Amino acid sequence: MMTYQHLLIHDNGYIRRITVAREAKLNALSKATLTELSNAIGDALATAAIRGIVLTGAGDKAFVAGADIAEFAGLNSEEGRALAQDGQTRVFNLIHHANKPIVAAINGYALGGGLELALACHIRVAVTHAKLGLPEVSLGLIPGYGGTQRLTQLVGRGRALEMILTGDMVTAKQALEYGILNHVVESTELLAKAEEILHRMTARSQTAVEGAIRAVNASLEPNDQGFKTEINEFGRCFGTSDFSEGVAAFLEKRKPNF
Ligand code: COA
Repeated sequence: MMTYQHLLIHDNGYIRRITVAREAKLNALSKATLTELSNAIGDALATAAIRGIVLTGAGDKAFVAGADIAEFAGLNSEEGRALAQDGQTRVFNLIHHANKPIVAAINGYALGGGLELALACHIRVAVTHAKLGLPEVSLGLIPGYGGTQRLTQLVGRGRALEMILTGDMVTAKQALEYGILNHVVESTELLAKAEEILHRMTARSQTAVEGAIRAVNASLEPNDQGFKTEINEFGRCFGTSDFSEGVAAFLEKRKPNF
């Protein structure tokens, strides 16, 4: 099995658990972490003995608190667009279109790219204290890893726009009501619940499971114009003074002045 710097891998029968482990940075997705995730998911999908994947974060504070904001500083529009395109292709679409079920076990904050990671998974289970949101507008950005598309598909235009335009977080209870989450459980139950769901699927015909994922996904994607628009708008934000102010404010631990 491959080894990773920012991930932990654990197999339990047919199920592989992939844990994003950058706890000191609330498991934020640096470029290096995204590359490892792409490799780890690709490896799990290529391993015949694995039939399902649990994706979670280390510790009890955060699932993933977003893309690594420190790495955004100084990027121009072109680089911003490339970042979104590359991440979507290598990680988020890989998960969305995986031929094996992937469950996000949300153990705390799922923000920005962290919520987008969970949204790309097929099923989401969270702990009662989890908080979910797309706070990119506070940084002078929009979501760039499919969040504008996948959140809208799950909750509808009105609720998606309220969450994306305010950047406010919702509680696990609200997210369950909205249909973002499939289940909310106590912290001690999280991994067991995620595995229990997968165990039920791994006992079924894997050919049928794979076909069903493909068919459900196909119903959501009459074209990829939405994802393209998101990537372009995300890139455009990088060239603005609001973006410079938003990122500087986060790094200086102060409120942005737009
Ligand atoms: N990128 C880079 N670093 C991040 C990060 C991110 N998305 N989220 C958290 N961190 C880092 C913090 O900078 C801090 O690092 P430091 O200890 O070296 O200063 C560490 O993780 C702990 O976070 P901190 O902000 O001190 O914790 P908190 O409990 O005060 O707040 C959050 C928790 C989640 C509310 C806050 O970290 C936050 O707002 N994070 C950014 C969320 C976001 O905007 N994500 C979208 C990115 S596109």
